[in-house]
Amino acid sequence: MRVDVFTLVPHAFAWLTEQRPIAGVLGGELDLRLFNYRDSSPLKAGQVDDEPYGGGAGMVLRVDVVAAALDAVYGGPPAHRVIALTPKGRLLTQPVVEELAEEDTLTLLSSRFEGFDERIVQHLSGDALSIGPYVLSNGDLPAMVLLDAVARRLPGALAEGSGELESFSPELGGGLEYPHYTRPPEFRGWTVPDVLLSGDHARIDAWRREHVR
Ligand SMILES: C[S@@+](CC[C@H](N)C(=O)[O-])C[C@H]1O[C@@H](n2cnc3c(N)ncnc32)[C@H](O)[C@@H]1O
Repeated sequence: MRVDVFTLVPHAFAWLTEQRPIAGVLGGELDLRLFNYRDSSPLKAGQVDDEPYGGGAGMVLRVDVVAAALDAVYGGPPAHRVIALTPKGRLLTQPVVEELAEEDTLTLLSSRFEGFDERIVQHLSGDALSIGPYVLSNGDLPAMVLLDAVARRLPGALAEGSGELESFSPELGGGLEYPHYTRPPEFRGWTVPDVLLSGDHARIDAWRREHVR
């Protein structure tokens, strides 16, 4: 899978690329490319945003700048899915993550300040996603959240079996995973349920299924 991220701060993604699961699939199942809108801006001095028509505070990412960035990389409108990250988009849920993980190529558009000129969302992207009902300062954290969630669904990202029985998975009926415990079996009087120490895998399995929420 290839993911292209358009941003004003490509270096912000350095941390993410050093961490698993991204680090484990980069150069293999995942090809990640980072593009700076400024590098292809048709405006002077790499300008990328402008004052909103109608007045008001903040700056708006310009449609001609994003179009130029897409043209510079793809030579025209890309055939694959282009996603604008915006609090006004549809919510990024686990089913949406699974859907995205099936794509061969994705383009993520990040903005900042007041956000996108609406024509970017309407005409240059085919999808708009929000990572939650709150406002962040820019789309880079949302892009990283999406990347992490999608990357861990790619083959080889996780240890065998560890990505199947998870919160929101079909195997758990979309519910929240059962509780986990590890050593010590007792700490400050807080004990581990006896069944988990029993070695009886049928009972453990039944207990876990009962504790899916
Ligand atoms: C300060 S926000 C703009 C908020 C916008 N003026 C509004 O009221 O909806 C700047 C940028 O951060 C990103 N962003 C902020 N919150 C987000 C969220 N919950 N999900 C996805 N992207 C978000 C988007 O790229 C957005 O254009």
